[in-house]
Amino acid sequence: MLSPTTTLTLGALTLALALPPLALASDNATSLPTLTFKNAFISSGIVPEVIAALDPSVSFYATYSTSTGHEELLLPGTSLTTSEASSPLDFLVEGLTNATNITASTRYLIYLLDADAPARDNPSARNLRHYLAGNYTVMPGVNSSVLPSAQRLVVQTGSFAPFTPFTAPNPAPSSGVHRFIYALYKQPANFSAAGFETAGMEPETGNWNLSRWRGQLGLGPAIGATFFTIDTAAAGQSTNSTRGTTTVGAGPGGSGAAGLAVPAYMVGFTAISTLVGLVAFL
Ligand SMILES: *[C@@H]1O[C@H](CO)[C@@H](O)[C@H](O)[C@H]1NC(C)=O
Ligand SMILES: *[C@@H]1O[C@H](CO)[C@@H](O)[C@H](O)[C@H]1NC(C)=O
Ligand SMILES: *[C@@H]1O[C@H](CO)[C@@H](O)[C@H](O)[C@H]1NC(C)=O
Ligand SMILES: *[C@@H]1O[C@H](CO)[C@@H](O)[C@H](O)[C@H]1NC(C)=O
Ligand SMILES: *[C@@H]1O[C@H](CO)[C@@H](O)[C@H](O)[C@H]1NC(C)=O
Ligand SMILES: *[C@@H]1O[C@H](CO)[C@@H](O)[C@H](O)[C@H]1NC(C)=O
Ligand SMILES: *[C@@H]1O[C@H](CO)[C@@H](O)[C@H](O)[C@H]1NC(C)=O
Ligand SMILES: *[C@@H]1O[C@H](CO)[C@@H](O)[C@H](O)[C@H]1NC(C)=O
Repeated sequence: MLSPTTTLTLGALTLALALPPLALASDNATSLPTLTFKNAFISSGIVPEVIAALDPSVSFYATYSTSTGHEELLLPGTSLTTSEASSPLDFLVEGLTNATNITASTRYLIYLLDADAPARDNPSARNLRHYLAGNYTVMPGVNSSVLPSAQRLVVQTGSFAPFTPFTAPNPAPSSGVHRFIYALYKQPANFSAAGFETAGMEPETGNWNLSRWRGQLGLGPAIGATFFTIDTAAAGQSTNSTRGTTTVGAGPGGSGAAGLAVPAYMVGFTAISTLVGLVAFL
């Protein structure tokens, strides 16, 4: 008999198949030490302009799809097009044993923000939140195919309720270079059964005060972080017509499809983590 979960999985797999095919993973991706991330945050000015300090205990990566459909590891400071930034594929982590108080069941939260909203020379809406979700756990058994030394962070079906659903970066034309930051935090235990709104978080995404937020949720510092940039002066960047619109779940098999509550780019996660869940309960 099909449980609702199984039904969702089949729907998700169908959607996943409708996405453009990804070429086999890059065979040249290599892991980076935490010091490289720390230094990149300093040389970009993010530290201390946006956050006071970054002392990562883990190497944290996202992957994205290039214009040729190749899944690529995001190295800190990489310049992406809005198209490449529109659908992160995977979140990866290395070195969790170096972080304090981590167990196999530890949950994590991940955000993406634009530090340079609306522009770096006048960041009056710093920080602009593009994504925030919790309940990520390390996927046991199978590492990333893009970076085999890294574990994947996935969310179990039924636990995925992004506080801020993913909104694709699309900064205004001629607003300079924007720095977009992904960060990984250890999730306090009480959020395994409660959303961030229970700590008083508001849906408002602009002017996000990270210090205040960490206090609200009782968070320690980020255990890992990475970033990319978008140069709005570069060819093929933001057009006036789409700027500012919400593009959650846009793209093939996008938001309207099947009424799924997940952004299209999360579909792969959901399908795979559900399979893990099923295996675990068999
Ligand atoms: C892999 O190599 C390609 C070119 O062969 C390069 O464009 C890409 O940036 C490399 N990826 C990584 C993660 O080093
Ligand atoms: C998977 O990733 C973990 C953590 O980074 C690492 O310790 C382990 O060796 C990796 N497994 C393989 C088969 O590479
Ligand atoms: C863990 O920390 C040690 C000491 O700082 C470092 O040498 C090692 O590379 C780290 N391991 C990982 C997987 O990052
Ligand atoms: C680690 O966890 C223990 C027990 O939950 C707690 O008492 C301790 O303060 C934690 N340490 C850190 C560094 O978070
Ligand atoms: C985690 O998942 C549970 C359901 O399993 C849900 O009640 C809770 O709100 C989620 N927490 C977060 C921070 O997403
Ligand atoms: C952010 O919040 C902290 C702590 O609540 C506060 O001290 C600081 O003034 C706030 N920053 C801004 C720009 O509002
Ligand atoms: C969760 O626990 C943290 C401390 O770890 C606390 O600061 C926060 O207020 C708690 N949130 C809720 C909703 O109880
Ligand atoms: C964007 O708007 C400006 C003025 O409003 C116009 O000059 C420019 O051609 C527009 N660009 C595009 C790509 O539509």
